[in-house]
Amino acid sequence: MITEKIQSLLEETAALTATTAKEVEDLRIHYLGRKGVMNDLMAEFRELPQETKREVGQKLNQLKQSIQAQLDTLRKNLPAEDGKKDALDLTRTPYPTPLGSRHPLTLVRNEIIEIFSRLGFVLADGPEIEDDWHVFSSMNFPADHPARDMQDTFFIARQPDIVLRTHTSSVQSRVMETTQPPIRVICPGRVYRNEAISARAHCFFHQVEGLYIDKHVSFADLKQVLLTFARELFGEGTQIRLRPSYFPFTEPSAEMDISCHICGGKGCAFCKQTGWVEILGCGMVDPAVLEANGIDSKEYKGYAFGMGVERITNLKYRVKDLRLFSENDVRFLDQFVGEGF
Ligand code: DAH
Repeated sequence: MITEKIQSLLEETAALTATTAKEVEDLRIHYLGRKGVMNDLMAEFRELPQETKREVGQKLNQLKQSIQAQLDTLRKNLPAEDGKKDALDLTRTPYPTPLGSRHPLTLVRNEIIEIFSRLGFVLADGPEIEDDWHVFSSMNFPADHPARDMQDTFFIARQPDIVLRTHTSSVQSRVMETTQPPIRVICPGRVYRNEAISARAHCFFHQVEGLYIDKHVSFADLKQVLLTFARELFGEGTQIRLRPSYFPFTEPSAEMDISCHICGGKGCAFCKQTGWVEILGCGMVDPAVLEANGIDSKEYKGYAFGMGVERITNLKYRVKDLRLFSENDVRFLDQFVGEGF
């Protein structure tokens, strides 16, 4: 009797199926629970005559092991989501959404501003759509200077001439006409020139202008500030060199090179084997510019400098094609995640 029951239970339980964790648990309670089928069989077993107990006991053990193994298999093969559905925790913090990155030009501009602000320079800005006076005339450009030419400058209107500023030097004039010295400003901004777009030229780019006016300002002051700046930006070992140059608004004028940050001055393709790369223009503010902007050139002197943000960014991050800066390709921009401030 009992052996037949055991045999049929063996067959019955070998064919069990379940699709949820709860179903498996219900089966366990039904067969192996305290008031389950197995327990009833044990009660029956205890009543058996001594001589049959040994054989039946073995079969009962087999049955119990077989049921246990079947339940384990069922549990293991449950569809995966089922366990998760029960575990869905609506109070958990959502996964962090990916943050964007700062634009490389913004990173470099912020770094430049930060360095000069530690040297006492304050921010100033002016309009991108400017009149001829602030861009050219007040900056001592002669009436026939080639920079005024249609080929360089975007004109918005003529007579009076309204242009897209071609350099941030226009902000120098804006500051001088409203402020009396001492003046110590840094002016970042976008500028425009009528150039065909290529890997090396663009019709818009960015500059940072600096202007310092006070009673006793010398070229040595300018040189020291620029050396400090170059070392802050490119590292302690950076060397600078100043080459005589010409700008209408400075006299004397110079262009500044830094020792090539890529090859360390040994000479490479980037610095065209010279070991030096140009990063800015500078000079002592021409007294004519001070006078044109209402500052007494007998009492005051000044220095000024202007640098291209794209150029410095290329040096720092080795961006080969200027167009990348304005194409908004996330594969490019993603590379700056977590950089700077
Ligand atoms: N404005 C010049 C340019 O766009 C750059 C420059 C040179 C600015 C010398 C200055 C300076 O303030 O002193 O090329």
